Amino acid sequence: MEKELLKSEQKFRRIFEDSMDGLILWNDMYQIVDTNCSALRIFGLPKDKLVGRSVLELFSHLNEKKQEIINHIEQVTNNGKQSSSMVIEGIDGGVRHFDYSTKRGIIDGLNLTVIIDVTEKAQMQEQLRKSDRLNLIGELAAGIAHEIRNPMTALKGFIQLLEPSIKAEHSMYYEVITSELARIDSIINEFLILAKPQETKYLDKDICQIMRETIDLLSAQAVLYNVQFYTHYEEQLPHVYCEPNQLKKVFINLIKNAIEVMPNGGEITIAINSIKDQFIQISIRDEGMGIPVDKIKKLGEPFYTTKEKGTGLGLMVSYRIIEEHNGSIEVDSEEGIGTLFKIKIPLKPFIKV
Ligand SMILES: Nc1ncnc2c1ncn2[C@@H]1O[C@H](COP(=O)(O)OP(=O)(O)OP(=O)(O)O)[C@@H](O)[C@H]1O
Ligand SMILES: [Mg+2]
Repeated sequence: MEKELLKSEQKFRRIFEDSMDGLILWNDMYQIVDTNCSALRIFGLPKDKLVGRSVLELFSHLNEKKQEIINHIEQVTNNGKQSSSMVIEGIDGGVRHFDYSTKRGIIDGLNLTVIIDVTEKAQMQEQLRKSDRLNLIGELAAGIAHEIRNPMTALKGFIQLLEPSIKAEHSMYYEVITSELARIDSIINEFLILAKPQETKYLDKDICQIMRETIDLLSAQAVLYNVQFYTHYEEQLPHVYCEPNQLKKVFINLIKNAIEVMPNGGEITIAINSIKDQFIQISIRDEGMGIPVDKIKKLGEPFYTTKEKGTGLGLMVSYRIIEEHNGSIEVDSEEGIGTLFKIKIPLKPFIKV
């Protein structure tokens, strides 16, 4: 009988230890009595730093988190169980999402909290929400852009006809009108790309060549902002099956953003290299003011802009184009230091529908 008991105890210990979810046992003095490996991983602490500690002190350095735990425990005391969720900013700046539920008195005087890392699920939901909005915007854009385009063409034509008869003292108004018209035009064009990707022609192309052309295009603006480009291209990179004009648009958007965040000048470092012969990675690094962690998830959302004259469409268009290449865009940013955009595009040709 003793043997059977031991076996059963070992079995349950094993289940506890190997559970994929973080498990924490704590007593009615709020003291942690035992944890499994997953819990240690979640907190990034060794067992002796966690056992003996008060659950109330788990986030003692973060006041609002502490309050969340106190509320959770209050509910556990009142109702016997409670489920909550928490978002924590890691030391690496990444945000992690957790669901945690507690049951009181699971065994004599011990309470069990189960913690599940749901970061990936949360990111996926965020992505879905973004792409839903993108689709909606796309459909709206199709209708609106066409309706605006025709009267715009007429306006631009007649304004040009008027140019010779504009009096000198009114020439400034004329300039404002034409430049604002050009701005409306460019917004409509971006809308149209969203609504209906123009006839796309996928070709095997040298990404470095596309980047060189982009940099040439932007060099005048860079000089104006006192920005220098540094480029590092890996030698003999394979060609990429892509829509060169669309990719150029992405590079223009990202580099323009990089220039715009350095009004007093600085360096933009552009690197292109291959990863394990499977992807081409294009990284664009600036020395701008960086992006606060909580704002990073807003990038690519339509109309998200912090610029007085921004449309907040540049990144959305770029994300869309890279998505169509089956690629991805990652952002690393540190406030006050700068931002790094990393675009990954798969090398294997993919079937376009
Ligand atoms: N390199 C960067 N550094 C810091 N913030 C950036 C960077 N790139 C983008 N952002 C932030 O993301 C926002 C959205 O960028 P996006 O390119 O979509 O629009 P925009 O630049 O504001 O306007 P536009 O439509 O003219 O491009 C910017 O307003 C800025 O706040
Ligand atoms: Mg932009």
